[in-house]
Amino acid sequence: MPVRTAVIPAAGLGTRFLPATKVVPKELLPVFDTPSLQHTVDEAIGAGIDHIILVSNRAKPAIEAFADKASGGARITVVYQDAPRGLGHAVEITRELVGDAPFAVLLPDELMGDSSHLQDLVREHEATGQTAIGVKRVPRSEVSAYGCITPQGVPDANGRVGVRDVVEKPNAVDAPSDLVIIGRYVFSRHIFGYLASLKPAAGGELQLSDAIGAYARKGGVTGVLISCTRHDTGTPMGMLTASIDAALKRSNVGPQLRTWLEGRLQ
Ligand code: G1P
Repeated sequence: MPVRTAVIPAAGLGTRFLPATKVVPKELLPVFDTPSLQHTVDEAIGAGIDHIILVSNRAKPAIEAFADKASGGARITVVYQDAPRGLGHAVEITRELVGDAPFAVLLPDELMGDSSHLQDLVREHEATGQTAIGVKRVPRSEVSAYGCITPQGVPDANGRVGVRDVVEKPNAVDAPSDLVIIGRYVFSRHIFGYLASLKPAAGGELQLSDAIGAYARKGGVTGVLISCTRHDTGTPMGMLTASIDAALKRSNVGPQLRTWLEGRLQ
């Protein structure tokens, strides 16, 4: 079945980016000259998505205003997650809107240079029916910031690897590997069954990674290594590098910026 729907969870309050997020939600902070969320919407559209479900929070009315004005041509529906009950809960509340078709999830904290990685995940799902998740090798010291997979062997020549289990934010010493989840997923509808049977973790949160882990233990999940550029805009450094990268690609400022950076660094 083709993948036409994407869920973008955007309900967090962005406290890491205060004071910038006092009035403007973090997803609408500009990455160069474009709201960060528009980059995510464009990435989804570039992978064939025509319906986007934005999971927001009533404390962020600007997200709804953005949905009315977003460019690109996809239909955007806004739903609300009013309590911070975790990423698993944010996905679970979209169940009726998503229906039975497979769907993508894009975490807007991660900005990709283009749609190629999501296209890869869509292709993998369409060819195999497996849930496909984006993974990346990182230094061991960084695994504790991510969901980490237990791989089945090593990735093949096409960057595919079976996923046997997932653990959310392990200590570096306990981590099952150095392959982490980078916030891009293509799920079959079965994920909703696994989400429904989750027990809330500490603080009442439902972890998406726990549902993926349960699904992986049944053999339904494949990891796909990312090959495009990626910026973690959940951190100030990632915001900066994403803006510089976006500006370098523009013909109106790219060449001048390159010259300025080269001079500045001498
Ligand atoms: C979330 C997921 C985690 C994933 C990460 C990617 O964590 O829970 O599994 O590796 O996104 O950015 P968060 O960054 O929201 O804490």
